[in-house]
Amino acid sequence: MNPYQYRAPPVGIELVPRPLKMRLTVRSLSGNSGSHGRHGTLSQLLGVSTGIFLGFILTAAIRHLMLKPHMCLSLRNVPIYDDKNDAYRIIGFDISKDTHNSAKNLLFVGVMTADKYLDTRAKAVYETWGKQLPGKIAFFSSETSTTNVDIPLIRLRGVDDSYPPQKKSFMMIKYMAEHFADHFEFFMRADDDIYVRPDKLELFLRSVNSTKAHFIGQAGKGNQEEFGHLSLKMDENFCMGGPGVIMSRSTLLQVAPHVRDCLKNLWSTHEDVEVGRCVRKYAKVPCTWSYEMQSILYHNSSGTEAFTGPLKQREVHRAITLHPIKNHTHLYRLHSYIQGLNIRSSEAELVHFVRELTKTSEEAGLPVPHLDNPSSGIYLNHLGTDVTLQKWVADSEEEVLYWDFVSKAAFQPGSANPRHKPTSGMTEGLADVIRDVMEIINRAEP
Ligand SMILES: *[C@@H]1O[C@H](CO)[C@@H](O)[C@H](O)[C@H]1NC(C)=O
Ligand SMILES: *[C@@H]1O[C@H](CO)[C@@H](O)[C@H](O)[C@H]1NC(C)=O
Ligand SMILES: *[C@@H]1O[C@H](CO)[C@@H](O)[C@H](O)[C@H]1NC(C)=O
Repeated sequence: MNPYQYRAPPVGIELVPRPLKMRLTVRSLSGNSGSHGRHGTLSQLLGVSTGIFLGFILTAAIRHLMLKPHMCLSLRNVPIYDDKNDAYRIIGFDISKDTHNSAKNLLFVGVMTADKYLDTRAKAVYETWGKQLPGKIAFFSSETSTTNVDIPLIRLRGVDDSYPPQKKSFMMIKYMAEHFADHFEFFMRADDDIYVRPDKLELFLRSVNSTKAHFIGQAGKGNQEEFGHLSLKMDENFCMGGPGVIMSRSTLLQVAPHVRDCLKNLWSTHEDVEVGRCVRKYAKVPCTWSYEMQSILYHNSSGTEAFTGPLKQREVHRAITLHPIKNHTHLYRLHSYIQGLNIRSSEAELVHFVRELTKTSEEAGLPVPHLDNPSSGIYLNHLGTDVTLQKWVADSEEEVLYWDFVSKAAFQPGSANPRHKPTSGMTEGLADVIRDVMEIINRAEP
């Protein structure tokens, strides 16, 4: 038999009475009664046994009564949502409006988390990228999870926070299929230590035909020690769980009816390997074999150190998902950095639009529209000026703009030391410009 096979932990052990103990008690009592007369012994024995029997029933009844209110209480503390409307309410999905709104139903993200991370990682995820998705997000945790934090939390029935989270993962797939399959095109399984760039993910997913069965992720075959121990054939792979795994609706619907089978036939302790096996068996798709995936779904192997240092790196700029961010404080830091990038690219887009507007207006012989609004501090019209080094002509010598010259040394008139080493600000600025230009050159424009 497979030693890793999942076994559900026994539930409600305290409530099971123990008849064995009682039988022992009876025997020792009847042994004591040996010194009395025959008649006495029999009636005494009868009396004693009846007494014990009644006592047992009474105790059991009292225990039952005493335990019952507790049980009710704990059940009330832990509502399990099986009803679809409850599920929609938790994730904030309005079935009458959102179902046919592709900005709101492209993607559903299921984040696997545990009770101890609800107040930290889950909260951080929900407060950063979780709210910007072209769809909805929910956090899947154990049946007994509790939190005061306001997050869309789904407690999976019969699931605990043990590791590896195979049962949690499969039950999440089942839950997503049963409750949300009709309303979203793609379903993502994410960890709670991941950062997702929703705008980039949306662009990517919109280029994929969601009617087909897809299993999108960073394909893996196990590392060197695991190789050969995962029961994978040469041409078989799985999607590595960490940086995120995305299924199309079709994949989800083909896999979900069989999750119990898959849970009964585990071949390894790796949750992502088993999900991969299940998807391959029932949806008949492998994980996407694509070299690019390792930069799109980026996993940094420095463990707890990842994303705690400088973020201005090509990998961070290019990725759609970033993993792992073990300390949730750093998720906020990463978020603010990424927001900065987004603001910069929005600014660039704005300049581009204003230039386009000015140019087309001039070509059409129309006046350039007034975009400035001084009372709100908005000045946009000057952005439409042609990009040229001679756009402004000085009238007098004082007005002449001077340029800094930067090569190995920087030459700056006006500074106390006109020839000096380029400052760190200059170096970084130049590196930024070079990277941006390289990105523009390398971007595959259709
Ligand atoms: C998407 O895939 C489905 C099923 O294979 C196919 O019928 C449909 O034409 C595809 N749509 C596009 C836009 O390619
Ligand atoms: C990723 O890992 C490498 C080496 O392990 C490290 O040098 C780099 O700074 C890390 N990147 C981020 C963004 O943390
Ligand atoms: C997480 O990072 C913050 C900021 O660097 C630090 O203050 C905090 O101690 C870290 N928490 C843990 C658990 O390492």
